[in-house]
Amino acid sequence: MDDIDLTALDRFACGFPHGIFDRLRAKAPVWWHPPTAHTPDGEGFWVLSRYADIVAAAADADTFSSRGGGNRSGGGTIIEDLPADWAAGVLLNMMDDPRHARVRRLLTPSVAPRTLRLIEEELRGRATAIVAAAIAKGECDFLLDLAAELPLQAVAQLLGVPQQDRHQLFAWANVALDYEDRELGEVTARTRQAVAETRAYGAQLLAAKRIEPAEDLMSLAANATIDGEPLSDMEQAMLFSLLIAAGSETTRNSIALGMAALIERPDVWRRLREDRTLVDGAVEEMLRWASSTPYNRRTATRDHTLGGQRIRAGDKVTLWWASANRDAEVFTDPHRFDIERRPNPHLAFGRGGHFCLGSALARMEMRVVFTALLDQVGTAELTGPIEHTRSNKHTGVRHMPVRLTAVG
Ligand code: HEM
Repeated sequence: MDDIDLTALDRFACGFPHGIFDRLRAKAPVWWHPPTAHTPDGEGFWVLSRYADIVAAAADADTFSSRGGGNRSGGGTIIEDLPADWAAGVLLNMMDDPRHARVRRLLTPSVAPRTLRLIEEELRGRATAIVAAAIAKGECDFLLDLAAELPLQAVAQLLGVPQQDRHQLFAWANVALDYEDRELGEVTARTRQAVAETRAYGAQLLAAKRIEPAEDLMSLAANATIDGEPLSDMEQAMLFSLLIAAGSETTRNSIALGMAALIERPDVWRRLREDRTLVDGAVEEMLRWASSTPYNRRTATRDHTLGGQRIRAGDKVTLWWASANRDAEVFTDPHRFDIERRPNPHLAFGRGGHFCLGSALARMEMRVVFTALLDQVGTAELTGPIEHTRSNKHTGVRHMPVRLTAVG
């Protein structure tokens, strides 16, 4: 295992390193990753790679906290410790119950399938227009022109952000999430500025929603109370940043990597065009295949034994969803892209109390985008190499040059 360094981002520059995780699952499923030159905080961390261990840890939030544990002041769900004043314990995904459950309960109705059905028709119209525009271009960047657009338009609508501002938010989120010019744990002036501008935009939006609430998620967050108290200003602002990032980044990457899988398999593309009952299964397989959120971290709150290894209170523990999704104990022939895989209990949306709040929205967006593509596109081909995201936190693509040809 000496050559494995999951904090060296170059290892992720050509896509998720499945080979490394095949080895870890076989030889060291609960592995202590020693600190390396790239490791944030100069600290090692545990790496869980098998499905069963990951499910067990995700289900036990008392032992594996999303906020922190041991003597840490910060914590959170990425490898580097984030401070407690704006992230750990403040961001919804980095809180523990009972606060987490109460804030989550406020938001759940806004992203429930019943609510989403009300916007499905509109999203269909948007997707049809997005695909038509990409075809009209001849050659396009599938990521920017197509995959990014619907998730961005949808999240803007859901949060109550004016559509004309969505590209600015997208640009800030890109800078904040991309590791193009920095290493793990490193903050540059560019990232600091992008994070600050997103937060300032969010604060202004929230202030406006307090004065004039509408039927959107940010109006809800701005005016909701728990035990008679509003969410703190920081909780509200961070919720906005989280939803913009979570709502656009992951879904666009799943759409792009899903399309790349279909372009490589023209027979599957043809079958989907002929039989639309296969689309839902294809979306599930794309989610498993892409696993666009490769891992989330927890912090052990107490000493605990897992897979024969002694984990100590305060240790960082990483749950690699992308590895669980290729575990042969659960998925037959796991490195095969199979749109008819049944069952397909993938962990792309995580598991347990923090299970993705936007899963129904992401599934709907993917269904709507691929239906529009299958309706309008006859053939799709890559016209250049795919540029992958150099990150261990988001598996996805930066650019994907394609030619889409209209149905003949
Ligand atoms: C394909 C697309 C998506 C993927 C792969 C994905 C993945 C995930 C994963 C793995 C988690 C669990 C984090 C953890 O356990 O620490 C999560 C949580 C979350 N996701 Fe998603 N997500 C997607 C789309 C979305 C969308 C569209 C939204 C928003 C509208 C969203 C909002 C959230 C939120 C708010 C949480 C935190 C939930 C909580 O802590 O209770 N996600 N997502």
